[in-house]
Amino acid sequence: MLLPSLLLLVLGLLPWSPSASWAAKVIVVPPIMFESHLYIFKTLAEALHQEGHETHFLISEGRGVPPSPNFHLQRYPGIFNSTTADNFLQSKVSNIFSGRLTFLELFDILDHYSQNCDAVVGSVEVMTRLKEAKFDLLLVDPNEMCGFVIAHILGVKYAVFSTGLWYPAEAGAPAPLSYVPEFNSLLTDRMSLPQRIANTAVYLVQRFGVRYIALPKYDRIMKKHGVTPQVAMFDLVQGSRLWMLCTDMALEFPRPTLPHVVYIGGILTKPPNPLPQDFEAWLNDTAEHGFVVVSFGAGVKYLSHDIAHKLAGALARLPQRVVWR
Ligand SMILES: *[C@@H]1O[C@H](CO)[C@@H](O)[C@H](O)[C@H]1NC(C)=O
Ligand SMILES: *[C@@H]1O[C@H](CO)[C@@H](O)[C@H](O)[C@H]1NC(C)=O
Repeated sequence: MLLPSLLLLVLGLLPWSPSASWAAKVIVVPPIMFESHLYIFKTLAEALHQEGHETHFLISEGRGVPPSPNFHLQRYPGIFNSTTADNFLQSKVSNIFSGRLTFLELFDILDHYSQNCDAVVGSVEVMTRLKEAKFDLLLVDPNEMCGFVIAHILGVKYAVFSTGLWYPAEAGAPAPLSYVPEFNSLLTDRMSLPQRIANTAVYLVQRFGVRYIALPKYDRIMKKHGVTPQVAMFDLVQGSRLWMLCTDMALEFPRPTLPHVVYIGGILTKPPNPLPQDFEAWLNDTAEHGFVVVSFGAGVKYLSHDIAHKLAGALARLPQRVVWR
């Protein structure tokens, strides 16, 4: 149900031409790891395909993506294949869960993103091929910011399609620091005065990190490859036509938003399939009041029992309403 309105949003970004059978060419730049993001883009590609539009994914060689009539693949020689990307990601996640500093691991991920970006942007063959394809729109997954750079080089209109997490503080949205805990602050929405001060400190450190560490990596890549016209990465981020956030108000902290930020959560929601018989029998014995199945993205693929327990405990604290059908 959400998908048609999402389609309108995506298509609204495209130039309108009066020909009767007009098909748009959209290119998606997904992150080089996190298979879960690809699920969302595949669903989007399917919906676009049904309307007669063409979707391409920019994917590194050696990344296993089964072919589909819904999308085309634009391959490039990147730094990872499926196996090495997954091993890398799982090692980062297990480091984080075993207490290593999250931001150090995130910097390492960022470092690999920018190495990969350097490889794509530096490949004359790939960039020429993409230019010749004449795309109408590029969708950037901000998890991997190379999409901004590629859109600029191709001279294609771009919009951000975020699969969650990254709320655009960089796009100028107000941050109500008194009740919205910053990512990685380990705070909740109920904060004492010292905690609010700590939250503000985390916010400032993160803005500083994005502005002076993360974005300049991409500035250097553009400079290295002589990208013209010269533009700052910060301005490219701000220049996005639309920010589509694949999350829902119901799951987020309430906060003021911006006119070009839209919530598009629920893309992967579907009516449930019946449970397998043996699973149902087991649940009948164990779960007196019913149960909720939760699935996580590739970031938490191999959970230890302890961590799974903690995550389930956190979800169990959400206010719940029973719907009888
Ligand atoms: C991925 O790359 C690694 C190291 O370069 C190689 O050993 C492995 O065979 C590759 N795997 C696939 C599926 O291509
Ligand atoms: C589980 O319980 C439901 C409701 O009580 C019942 O309809 C269903 O047949 C049970 N399933 C199994 C496999 O025992």
